[in-house]
Amino acid sequence: MTMEKTLSEEIARLMSLGLHRRCAEGALNSVAALTLEINRLKKERNAVICAHVYQTPDIILGVGDFVGDSYKLADDCRKTDADEIIFCGVHFMAETAKILNPSKKVYVPSERAGCSLSESITGEDVRGLKAQHPGVPVVTYINTSAEVKAESDCIVTSANAEKILKKIYAEHEKVIFIPDQFMGRNLAKALGRTPGKDIVLWNGTCIVHERFSPELIRMYRGKYPGLAVLAHAECPEELIAAVDFMGGTGDMMRYVESTNASAYLLVTECGFGELAKLRFPEKNFIAMCRLCPYMKSITLNSVLSLLKDPSPKEVAVPADIAARAKKAIDRMFELAQ
Ligand code: 13P
Ligand code: SF4
Repeated sequence: MTMEKTLSEEIARLMSLGLHRRCAEGALNSVAALTLEINRLKKERNAVICAHVYQTPDIILGVGDFVGDSYKLADDCRKTDADEIIFCGVHFMAETAKILNPSKKVYVPSERAGCSLSESITGEDVRGLKAQHPGVPVVTYINTSAEVKAESDCIVTSANAEKILKKIYAEHEKVIFIPDQFMGRNLAKALGRTPGKDIVLWNGTCIVHERFSPELIRMYRGKYPGLAVLAHAECPEELIAAVDFMGGTGDMMRYVESTNASAYLLVTECGFGELAKLRFPEKNFIAMCRLCPYMKSITLNSVLSLLKDPSPKEVAVPADIAARAKKAIDRMFELAQ
């Protein structure tokens, strides 16, 4: 006979993860009621929940099976034997999971989980770039639609873009890098390349990372001696010039784990800082973050409604587009080794 978990056991589990430190008085009980029901329904459907680190801690710690950056979540999805994948992240991440798992059902709990980078470019735009630069390989950030991936030669994430571009430059003089102009400029600088000459860029930006201010970083450095400043590679180059470390969220988390700064300033989406505080309660964090409205359109309540009625939230990718996009994603897994 299997014993159902009780609400008090679920509250104790969430407390052991430190969630009570992030919840208002009394709120932990309602969070526990939701996570208990979500985890029960998830098991019943043989589903897994992927949670990007920009989600809120109640989702990440309460119901997430796979937690991480875009690369880790894509990799986890291609290895799972679950029948269904529920993606608590944004739509392009779920599309990637679907492309890698055509026979599984993939869902996103919110219709508003888009991304300004993904929305900045279409397949038609990429065809235009290829016509302008014949024979130049198209290296595409994972924050794009399946249609854009299908027009690309290789996908990259923030975790592997520099490494993969180095390998591609070993065989090509010039590369088209889309759609994040800031990440493109930051990579060009790291690789000694010149935008417009040997790296063709698009004009996409992330609405969260494009507006952080280098002046504020200077102000914080004055206030907190020994401060380590970390920023996501989607930030503009003037901002990156003022930080100690640039990378994706996975690299940023590893940097925090492996260093002992007196304080950390995390220049990225707020969910990352919330998770870092829970994972490293002994470290000192200073908030300089913005909320991503797309990521934050997902809540525990939306995950529960999805589990009760999943079909309207199913992610679909036409088979011909999925097959072409998969080639570019597989190339990433190969070159990221
Ligand atoms: P990461 O892959 O670094 O987590 O980035 C995803 C993203 O959307 C950043 O804004
Ligand atoms: Fe897109 Fe920026 Fe939100 Fe990441 S943080 S999902 S890049 S809008």
